[in-house]
Amino acid sequence: MIGDFAGLRAIVTGGASGIGAATAAQLLERGASVAVLDLDVAGRPDGAEGIVADVRDRESVDAAVARAAELLGGIDVVINNAGVGAVGTVADNADDEWLRVLDINVVGMARVAAAALPWLRQSPAAAIVNTSSIAALNGLPARALYSASKGAVLSLTFAMAADHVADSIRVNCVCPGTASTPWIGRLLAQADDPDAERAALDARQPIGRMVTPDEVAHAILYLASPLAGSTTGTALDVDGGVTHLRVRAARGSA
Ligand SMILES: NC(=O)c1ccc[n+]([C@@H]2O[C@H](COP(=O)([O-])OP(=O)(O)OC[C@H]3O[C@@H](n4cnc5c(N)ncnc54)[C@H](O)[C@@H]3O)[C@@H](O)[C@H]2O)c1
Repeated sequence: MIGDFAGLRAIVTGGASGIGAATAAQLLERGASVAVLDLDVAGRPDGAEGIVADVRDRESVDAAVARAAELLGGIDVVINNAGVGAVGTVADNADDEWLRVLDINVVGMARVAAAALPWLRQSPAAAIVNTSSIAALNGLPARALYSASKGAVLSLTFAMAADHVADSIRVNCVCPGTASTPWIGRLLAQADDPDAERAALDARQPIGRMVTPDEVAHAILYLASPLAGSTTGTALDVDGGVTHLRVRAARGSA
């Protein structure tokens, strides 16, 4: 499939770290030109344009998307991936934290997509891929706010797919399981015993290990590729089997 993105122009939010950086790198390898929109673009892969943007800020998003279109000569693919975590039950976060996380994780994706629509409508291969999570599909403890945000991303994906099918813009999402990104590194660093916590996260996966950012990126590229022209309004699980498998013990665990 090397080259299926040849000539296509992609923007990747949160593309300077983790899943977004892996996605930007694979898009470049497969022939796309790429602009990374992030709070800090230093970690973007070589060859990607870097545009500082805050998805919480409509003016910043509008300016960054317009700049990306100018640098790349248009926009065919939007990878809506920037997001933040949140820990706690419904009782554990104040209103301003609820609004902050929903603003980044949900409204941020709407802002970026809306800003990109004029260019996507001109593209012969327009696709949006949103990053949801297994938290949208499974009841995870102490993830009330985060799960609400990712459930909203899942529903938003279906609604956007319906709204823009007449414009020939496909809209899909991925639902990754726990992926070994800097984000998880930060969570592990806060644990009393990071090694034990990492082993527990690996063992929770039916495949016996965390998902890799490259595996999520590969799924995102599948959905974004012109080769997937009939796929719209879907959610693709990349979760090591967490959502649908019921196994006695993870492979490799006791
Ligand atoms: N890592 C996991 O286990 C996991 C699992 C399921 C879903 N996800 C989702 O994948 C996406 C990427 O997560 P990751 O693990 O690669 O995290 P990460 O922290 O490594 O990368 C996230 C990137 O988003 C950027 N970002 C955050 N807020 C932003 C803002 N307001 N404006 C612009 N950019 C902003 C950060 O600067 C960072 O570069 C997120 O949407 C996350 O919810 C992650």
